[in-house]
Amino acid sequence: MTDFIEGLPKCELHLHIEGTLEPELKFELAGRNGIDLPYASVEEIRAAYSFDDLPSFLKIYYEGMDVLRTEPDFYDLAMAYLRKAASQNVRYAEIFFDPQAHTSRGVPFDIVIRGLRRALIDAESRLGIRAQLIMCFLRDFQAEYAMATLLESLPYREWIVGVGLDSDEKGNPPVKFKAVYERARQEGYLLTMHCDVDQENSTEHIRQAIEEIGVNRVDHGVNALEDPSLVEAIRERGLGLTVCPISNGYVTDSMKADAIRRMLDLGLRVTVNSDDPAYFAGYVQENLVALADALDLSREDLVQLERNAFEITWLPRHLKDAYL
Ligand code: ADE
Ligand code: ZN
Repeated sequence: MTDFIEGLPKCELHLHIEGTLEPELKFELAGRNGIDLPYASVEEIRAAYSFDDLPSFLKIYYEGMDVLRTEPDFYDLAMAYLRKAASQNVRYAEIFFDPQAHTSRGVPFDIVIRGLRRALIDAESRLGIRAQLIMCFLRDFQAEYAMATLLESLPYREWIVGVGLDSDEKGNPPVKFKAVYERARQEGYLLTMHCDVDQENSTEHIRQAIEEIGVNRVDHGVNALEDPSLVEAIRERGLGLTVCPISNGYVTDSMKADAIRRMLDLGLRVTVNSDDPAYFAGYVQENLVALADALDLSREDLVQLERNAFEITWLPRHLKDAYL
């Protein structure tokens, strides 16, 4: 099945670009920027990657990105990911970035977006992989900072397809960002947000995301299965769910493979994605292989997962159809 998955044209819809920063590139950027890393080797960095919940992962994730300082750093980060994705036959990706994780430590918004944008353009012409950017707000910062970030993004509106919400969910429900999302919709952005797996109030957060925010998609959203009215709402609206099996295994006690099987059987638009592959040791290929092994997936199941993904992309209909 590994070969079949390799040959399958794939789509990645839940991928934090800062979560693709591999230890090798971390060292290179640290050297370039004159930063002393508290690790002697790539192996030592990887050995420090031990997390068992979302906050313990996020601490290492934010520390790691301190080496990203200049426009070429963001270019190299995105180019490395797009090269890897293209090598796995990923044809299209929607890529999250966390501007506040950079502006909050003094790296200007325009440095971040210009580097990422330049990589997307070069990757499309050189590697034949298409990608779009989704700007995420950090939910553990104040809503006012998210609004200021949204306004700061407007000069680059044409380079960003939608907005998302990530970081620590505990105590930071979707409705905290209601005004920000309303403004984002007015500006023409498409809307998604994380409803991470097994959080406090997971089902209530999914309900808020769908009913009060009116998202076009839900990132993770696995806990919707606990409430039949949420399953119905997701089905009725045709919402996609971007699930990340290997990531689930790191931040909870399981990959949630059985939940993904149920979502497929219910006909929901569930998709398989990698989240933070440099930290969770698995890009989209490895996620699909892990899931196929756990569930004994058929070729039809795998094709369905990728059809779901291309179907829920935020591409214009004619481009979407070209992949389907
Ligand atoms: N930021 C980067 N990865 C994340 C995840 N898996 N959940 C929430 N915020 C994130
Ligand atoms: Zn995520």
